[in-house]
Formats: sequence, structure tokens, C-alpha cells
Amino acid sequence: MFKRVFKKIKNLIFRTTCSIWFEKTLHEIPNPVAPDVDISIEYLMEDISRLSDWLKTHHAVFPWLYVRKELESAQANKHIYACILHQDVIIGYVKIGMNNVYVHDFDKVVHFPSKVAFVYDIFVLPEYRGKHIASYVLIKIIQFLKERGFEKLWCHIEGWNHASIKTFQKIGFKEKASIRFSRLFGFPFFLQNSYKPLKSLEAFWEAHYGMS
Ligand SMILES: CC(C)(COP(=O)(O)OP(=O)(O)OC[C@H]1O[C@@H](n2cnc3c(N)ncnc32)[C@H](O)[C@@H]1OP(=O)(O)O)[C@@H](O)C(=O)NCCC(=O)NCCS
Repeated sequence: MFKRVFKKIKNLIFRTTCSIWFEKTLHEIPNPVAPDVDISIEYLMEDISRLSDWLKTHHAVFPWLYVRKELESAQANKHIYACILHQDVIIGYVKIGMNNVYVHDFDKVVHFPSKVAFVYDIFVLPEYRGKHIASYVLIKIIQFLKERGFEKLWCHIEGWNHASIKTFQKIGFKEKASIRFSRLFGFPFFLQNSYKPLKSLEAFWEAHYGMS
């Protein structure tokens, strides 16, 4: 209890996170290679309750899966939640955002340019990992998004997460920047590539695509 309160106070005073931001242009799509397990994908668009219920039940073991603000922004902005199913049972998922996305690291809703989608979470249950499920599902998602007029897909990954970095790089995601977010006594600020101040994520898009 004391530890939790201390952590909360510490976070209120100073908080910092750093992620690598990756982009994939959707013009070239690698061929999907079937994973080692028989899976199917169910895309939830209007009603994401099947996955949000699952996230709630797995929250105790994997606390980062279920974030209330993230789900609210997903519902309000019609995000696409892809359930990964094995024998009709959920074994993983991919959360795909567009327009406005609550980014947990920043505790903030970020506006994305049109035709740009953002994978803000991907998860495969531990016993199903290493069977090429995530790479296969991401390629299918890229096809799905391209058919719906999207041109770019982004993701952000913390530097320690080698499994995730390898998964995304393998299918052609390219590193574009590292973005550090810090908050000191409630004042947020961003640094790009270690030293360059960045006003906001929206300013990052503007510099990148010449639009916001
Ligand atoms: C990241 C994650 C989704 C990958 O799922 P997966 O189905 O196991 O990935 P794949 O089997 O498709 O692997 C894709 C590539 O990454 C490699 N890879 C996967 N896990 C790895 C690991 N722990 N270490 C090194 N390489 C790894 C695979 O070997 C494969 O490359 P290969 O084709 O050369 O063999 C899964 O590890 C996971 O759910 N992690 C916890 C949640 C998480 O960190 N999500 C990412 C948030 S940004």
C-alpha cells in the first residue's frame, strides 16, 4: 500500500518514457506466411465488447491490457480491434487506432493525420508466442487497412522490447524517431532523438507529412 502511494506521488512529480516510432508504408505488402497454429482474425469495429470483456478478465495477470481511457477513445473514434482466435477462442489481439488515439505513455489523446493508422497495442498469449502469429496477423491487418484507403501504419515500441521490435521490423516497419515524453510537476514535454524539443506529437506529424 505504502509502495503504491509512493509510486503515485513520484509519478505526479516526475514521469518519463521513451519509445521508438516506426512507420510502414502500405504500398508494399509482404506475403503472409501461415503461422504454426491454425488461427482466424475477427475485426471488431462498432462493438468492441467481445475484446474489452476479454481484456477485463485478463487484466489481473497482464495489467497493461485494460486501460479505461484507451477503451473510451477507441469507442468514440471507431477504432478497429482485431481479435486473434484459435478454435474460436481469443488468444491475442491488435488495437488499431485512427483519428484520435489515447496514448497511454503520454496519458493524452493524440490526433493522427488522415489515412494514417496506428497499432497501439499487440498481444499474443505467452503459450502461443514464437509461432509467427503476430507477423501473420499484422500482414493481414496491413492488407485490410490498405483496402480501406489507409496509406501508412505506425507503431511505437519501447527500446527494451526486442520481441516486438523484431516482429515489426521483419514485416518492413522502419524506425523514424525516438520520442521521449516527460512530465515534471504536471508540465509535459517531448524530446525527439534525445535532444530535439518537440512541441507535440501533432507537430511531429506536421514535420513528417507536412500536414496535421
Ligand atoms: C510481441 C509479440 C506480439 C510477438 O508475437 P509472436 O506471435 O510471438 O511473434 P512472431 O512469432 O510472429 O515473431 C515474429 C519475429 O520476431 C521474432 N521474435 C518473437 N519473439 C521474440 C523474442 N522474444 N526474442 C527474439 N525474437 C523474437 C521471431 O523469431 C520472428 O522472427 P523470425 O521469423 O525470424 O523467426 C509477443 O511477444 C507479445 O505478445 N509480447 C507481449 C506484449 C508486447 O510486448 N506487445 C508489444 C507492445 S509494443
